Amino acid sequence: TTPLRLGIAGLGTVGVGVVKIIRQKANLLADRTGRPVVITAVSARTRDRDRGVSLAGYDWEGDPVALARRDDVDVFVELMGGHDGAALEATQAALDAGKDVVTANKALLAHRGQALAERAEAAGRTIRFEGAVAGGIPIMKALTEGLAGNEITRVMGVMNGTCNYILTRMQDSGLPYETVFQEASDLGYLEADPTLDVGGIDAGHKLALLSTVAFGTRVDFDAVELEGIERISIEDIRQASDLGYRIKLLGVAQMTGRGLEQRMSPCLVPKSSPLGQLKGGTNMVVIEGDAVEQIVLRGPGAGEGPTASAVMGDVCDLARGCRVPTFGQPASELTQARVAQSNSP
Ligand code: HSE
Repeated sequence: TTPLRLGIAGLGTVGVGVVKIIRQKANLLADRTGRPVVITAVSARTRDRDRGVSLAGYDWEGDPVALARRDDVDVFVELMGGHDGAALEATQAALDAGKDVVTANKALLAHRGQALAERAEAAGRTIRFEGAVAGGIPIMKALTEGLAGNEITRVMGVMNGTCNYILTRMQDSGLPYETVFQEASDLGYLEADPTLDVGGIDAGHKLALLSTVAFGTRVDFDAVELEGIERISIEDIRQASDLGYRIKLLGVAQMTGRGLEQRMSPCLVPKSSPLGQLKGGTNMVVIEGDAVEQIVLRGPGAGEGPTASAVMGDVCDLARGCRVPTFGQPASELTQARVAQSNSP
């Protein structure tokens, strides 16, 4: 049988996790997909760094665009990050060269996903991005496949582990925001640009992608009403607690009479509810559909193993020949569903 040949761009936390799974579980992956899954070539910013995993047997490419175009690569795996520049260029190059793409890049897709999905469609290809939303939780697979018989009425949840860590740590320790923010920084939890986390932007990216898949609407990150957690004081947390609530950075996407409403903001949730009890870097997504009623998915929102797990789910689907369209339906047929922001002037 013909192997599925991967080119992996980006060997940070997630890239290393993917390489480990492929090296350690070659037989399992071949049994499950019916063919070997192999890495042909890799690229990263620095070559000679100890990553705790062998790269023996893989070609090295200095340029991710060249990697994306290689004839001996079937699937381009983009794990570089960043919403323009190299990640965008290489993803476009891969699609134009007839490769499927697997990515964990939420920012890229939130900003460029509509155009990229249309480009993929024109080329008869697909972009898979399970690793981009809610880390290890197979939320895309749930929405596009397991729940395909539902009209989705609402998607909501906690989609940024770092904010959830900061808020639960403030709650548990009584320490102020600034101190806990510094702790999160020291622990390496924050994105290179921390505003992406605490400004609610990263979670907003994820909500925009979930909305598209759940409601069949064009990707529209600008339509997400955004508020971060920077202004949450320890006093807010105490008062909420006294009233029986926890403060969570909660995303809600639902169809209203005015169209699709997408909001990411600090919300009060009852202490005893599943969302209220969500601790640390965990994510939780609640999906409501007309047939299924409600399901709740919970799991680690980031990290080497969990995100690599999601990426490998996509890789294995492609190895099996399963080519669900990028957003679960043709990108060119997604509808415009923007509603005026309620708080805009
Ligand atoms: N900064 C993100 C988070 C990483 O904390 O959830 C995973 O997307």
